[in-house]
Amino acid sequence: MMISKIAVVGAGTMGHGIAEVAALSGFEVALIDISWDFLNKAKERISESLNKLAERKQISDAKAVLDRISFNTSYDIAKDADFAIEAVPEKLELKRTVFRTLDTVMPSHAVLATNTSSIPISDIAEATNRKEKVIGMHFFNPPVIMKLVEVIPSKYTNRETIDLTIDLAKKMNKIPVSLKYEIPGFVSNRIFIRLLQEACREVESGEAKIEEVDSTARNKLKLPMGLFELADYVGLDVVVDIWNVLVVRGTPDVNCLMFKTKVNEKNLGVKTGKGFYTYPAPGKYAKVQLPESSKVDPARLLSLAVNEASWMIENGIVSAKDVDTVMIYGFNFPKGLMEMADEVGLDKILKNLEDIYSKGYQAYKPTELLSKLVSEGKIGKSKGEGFHKY
Ligand code: 3HC
Repeated sequence: MMISKIAVVGAGTMGHGIAEVAALSGFEVALIDISWDFLNKAKERISESLNKLAERKQISDAKAVLDRISFNTSYDIAKDADFAIEAVPEKLELKRTVFRTLDTVMPSHAVLATNTSSIPISDIAEATNRKEKVIGMHFFNPPVIMKLVEVIPSKYTNRETIDLTIDLAKKMNKIPVSLKYEIPGFVSNRIFIRLLQEACREVESGEAKIEEVDSTARNKLKLPMGLFELADYVGLDVVVDIWNVLVVRGTPDVNCLMFKTKVNEKNLGVKTGKGFYTYPAPGKYAKVQLPESSKVDPARLLSLAVNEASWMIENGIVSAKDVDTVMIYGFNFPKGLMEMADEVGLDKILKNLEDIYSKGYQAYKPTELLSKLVSEGKIGKSKGEGFHKY
């Protein structure tokens, strides 16, 4: 099937960026939202972003790209689209309503994708009469810059839809990573939340301060942002939503209240101008100031995320290489998480997990794979083998 027109529903942070990416790749785009206020704001943001790209000579004609996007509050503009990407707020009932409407309006050949960060794709698909053509297509913030797209089949999605979505991601100049089957939070957000949980545990247990955790993340691990800074950037409400979905669907929790407290106080991060840090204005991000050095151990900070990734590898959901691709292209890590683990030493990761587990944190129970690698002496780069071979 040829895709020439893409409908994007939801013109917020992710939706407007996805529409822009689609238009940049030459597709005709229909951007739909419930109010003209949201649509006008989206048009302004897309225009600003395209002008930046034009200034940097990455595109020659910003206006031509913008002209490929039509804006409307009516789903009528989606009736000749071949593919839809939904990016409305993370509420299951709302998403199901959107999908029911798309299913009615769009041609029978069209694929309906959701950019959800955590809601089960199968639950959304069940609202339609084309369950086999519904799929997860998860972009990263900001969509114009971040190269990764996670492709998540539901239990109903057929092979043709998966292949078409992978192909579309490539045509949108993205790097797709396809999950074997759907798990809550997918690969990216399971790892992201685990990183935040350990960061949170360290602060709440008095082991470290927020700025120290973030200094290690930025200065030692060379991540583009500190972990609390990244959470602020993504939105603390979004983080708490994903965290809750993981816990409700059976992932062992790490008792830690800082994130929920911030959300209850309506300090949601960059979008409100205040979260763990204060920003110049609501919606305006500026890099936060952090101390140069910090006593926080990088191996400890990575431990829970590495354990989570090793569980996914052990269960055949993705490979170690895929995990690395997710973190490099979805979060701009300078190298993959599994490679980082191999560098700091899997023995050190395991020791930290055992230590924290012994304090009563069930989520830190080391996986069989990690324990096996260490017991076989495959502790990483120094021994020529860990999650990867060197
Ligand atoms: N459009 C066009 N250009 C943009 C842009 C946009 N929307 N946003 C940033 N840029 C450009 C800037 O103009 C700048 O260009 P220049 O180098 O020519 O000046 C360049 O990109 C770099 O941006 P900045 O100088 O403003 O800032 P940084 O160098 O600090 O980079 C960042 C910003 C790319 C956001 C970087 O900090 C980063 O990679 N952070 C991590 C982001 C991340 O992890 N995202 C994933 C979040 S998780 C997620 O989305 C999943 C969800 O389900 C929760």
